[in-house]
Amino acid sequence: MFSKFKNHMLTDIGIDLGAMNSRVFMKGKGVVLEVPTVVAIQPDSKRVLAVGDEARDMLGRTPGNIVAVRPLTGGVIADYDLTEAFFRYVFGKLFTRPWWARCFKPRAVIAVSSGITEVEKCAVETAAHAAGVGEVFLIERPIAAAIGAGLPVSEPKGSMIVDIGASTCDVAIISLAGIVHSCCLPAAGDAMTSSIVDYFHGQNLDIGECDAEAVKISIGSACPMESEQSMEVSGRDSETGEPKTLKVTSEEVREALKKPVSEIVDAVRKTLKRCGPQLFSDLKGGVGIVLSGGGSQLRGLDKLLSKEVGIPVRLADNPVVATIEGVGVVLGEIDFLAKNRKKCRGKSDEM
Ligand SMILES: Nc1ncnc2c1ncn2[C@@H]1O[C@H](COP(=O)(O)OP(=O)(O)OP(=O)(O)O)[C@@H](O)[C@H]1O
Ligand SMILES: [Mg+2]
Repeated sequence: MFSKFKNHMLTDIGIDLGAMNSRVFMKGKGVVLEVPTVVAIQPDSKRVLAVGDEARDMLGRTPGNIVAVRPLTGGVIADYDLTEAFFRYVFGKLFTRPWWARCFKPRAVIAVSSGITEVEKCAVETAAHAAGVGEVFLIERPIAAAIGAGLPVSEPKGSMIVDIGASTCDVAIISLAGIVHSCCLPAAGDAMTSSIVDYFHGQNLDIGECDAEAVKISIGSACPMESEQSMEVSGRDSETGEPKTLKVTSEEVREALKKPVSEIVDAVRKTLKRCGPQLFSDLKGGVGIVLSGGGSQLRGLDKLLSKEVGIPVRLADNPVVATIEGVGVVLGEIDFLAKNRKKCRGKSDEM
């Protein structure tokens, strides 16, 4: 009876903790929140001034007494206190429940990068507990992305997901609900944006990350487009300090993106090289490689990757939300996960 009441009070949640954007899934409701993973603080007092959209708008625009930072990079907690502050903000947005309901802590399924260590996993769990989560279940991001993209993850058949976010590119070959081979590249969409900043710097034009990202999204590509485009970009002349505007073509942007794009291609190639002939033939003859994450939307990336590795490549139907959708599916099994964990704990106590 008590357990039924408790289950009714609990609102289990799923979180895709991204370096640039975090997304939250609620049982029965779907994706309920998408928020920039940014926290602005006063460094002296460590006082949190803003979180989410408001803090994102402060990036690159703060006076000396404020810093706006992304507390996660490379799928790893870069600042523990800020990550906890971020979790608190998210839970504050989700739960406006009466005091008696707060006694029941929500359980959470959190997607983390496949490249993080046990210590880093522990840091994510501790930050979530400190912010008010009860039980935490971690799931590797590529598995969540593959489930969300509709890949046959639990079948005895190889499938491959390449999740290209802001700070990491998680490459994984999955079969029988587990990762057989994986590679976590600590460079993705952010690295592409930085390459564009560097390109303009080489032309004596200093531009901010937001403007560089706008160039990438507007005319960036990984391989030649049917009709090439151009746009004007404004910034500051790096020599004279005066305002300056330059016209840039999609061919030039593609050239600027060559290095980060080829790093992604190499990571995929490296992972494919490690897989056995049976898995390789599953990939070649089956669903091929599926791309997810915001960075996978770079024009022509699927085409280039397919040409380079000789396997069909396609973009997930909803690449940006594939991971959180997959987390949502796992969230549906949270009672089973909790029971299994209890069983495992019971067995280890007996030993
Ligand atoms: N149309 C587009 N073309 C190219 N890149 C894009 C496009 N739209 C978004 N991006 C890039 O996608 C990245 C953000 O993707 P996403 O929200 O999946 O990252 P994240 O989940 O926060 O990061 P991570 O998974 O690395 O922790 C940014 O680098 C952004 O510039
Ligand atoms: Mg992501």
